Amino acid sequence: MIGKMRLPMSKVSKKLHRLKSNKIFRDLCSETDFTKANFVQPLFVNEALRNKEEIIGLKDNFVMSLEDTLRQINEDISNGVNNFLLFISSKNKSLDSFNLSFHEKVISSIKDEFKDNINLWTDVCLCSLTDHGHCCLFDKDNSINIDKTLDEISKVALTYAEAGADIIAPSDMMDGRTLKIRKVLDALNFSIPIISYSTKFSSNFYGPFRNAADSSPLFGDRKQYQLDYRNKSEAIRASIRCAEEGADMLMVKPAMTSIDLIKDIKEKTNLMVGAYQVSGEYAGICLSEDKGLLNMEEALEETWHVMRRAEAQFIITYGARLAKKIGF
Ligand code: PBG
Repeated sequence: MIGKMRLPMSKVSKKLHRLKSNKIFRDLCSETDFTKANFVQPLFVNEALRNKEEIIGLKDNFVMSLEDTLRQINEDISNGVNNFLLFISSKNKSLDSFNLSFHEKVISSIKDEFKDNINLWTDVCLCSLTDHGHCCLFDKDNSINIDKTLDEISKVALTYAEAGADIIAPSDMMDGRTLKIRKVLDALNFSIPIISYSTKFSSNFYGPFRNAADSSPLFGDRKQYQLDYRNKSEAIRASIRCAEEGADMLMVKPAMTSIDLIKDIKEKTNLMVGAYQVSGEYAGICLSEDKGLLNMEEALEETWHVMRRAEAQFIITYGARLAKKIGF
């Protein structure tokens, strides 16, 4: 029976390491790849600052004045970053009538300087505007006043669009905010995309951010409006809802605690889904390196590839400005 000679299956040696013996093989076999174009770098601008302040735990990230922010963007562009997610804190905090003049100045100055060389994403939320640090407005009995909240959130979004923002990224998790913002923008013919934080958990990993963005709630927590990490179907439903309300792209957050959701959300909505490697995740890597427990650049590379493997279209990370050095 010539030609029918086969080794019995038990004799076939199935060794994965044959294709791993050198870097050229490993690169050839890489199932995930992406470039600097898929990264988004967050930036924190604070009206009260003259000198930049390092953010505890977030290596190479600062809270900055507008002038320092412009310098930082220039440097980041030379490191291949083209997407920036902006968080702005002003001196004025209020209960319900917000002064956005500093916000307008920051957005228009950045766009005047860098024009179409960058895409400026703007985080839209009330938590750095309200004096209580929550993402919403309350009635006297401390229940969320959703109508007033949506009015204010959509006003913020419109102000940012008028100032020249390229992307509106609502992060508040209020019911109906994507629809409301879309309507307000459409009414004035702004064809600016909305990339919603659509699946955002109430998480322990936002700590370093809240110091930087000056947005810790003075009372309670955000469990009333952010998602419960015990719930998968609810988390997917939240993204479907944003898609139905007109979001152009979606986002999960924190990245590592949502890694199982990206593909499902993508399949159910047919929208691209990005991942936000949040401050606590990044800080965990930075602080581990400080203790000599790992190599930060290698650990970042690993986490980014895992997000890509999970089918994240883009990655928001405090390490975006390191991506070129790491080899992306
Ligand atoms: C604002 C907002 C938060 C983050 C992004 N936008 C904080 C929060 O919801 O409490 C967290 C980002 C990070 O930790 O890196 N609502």
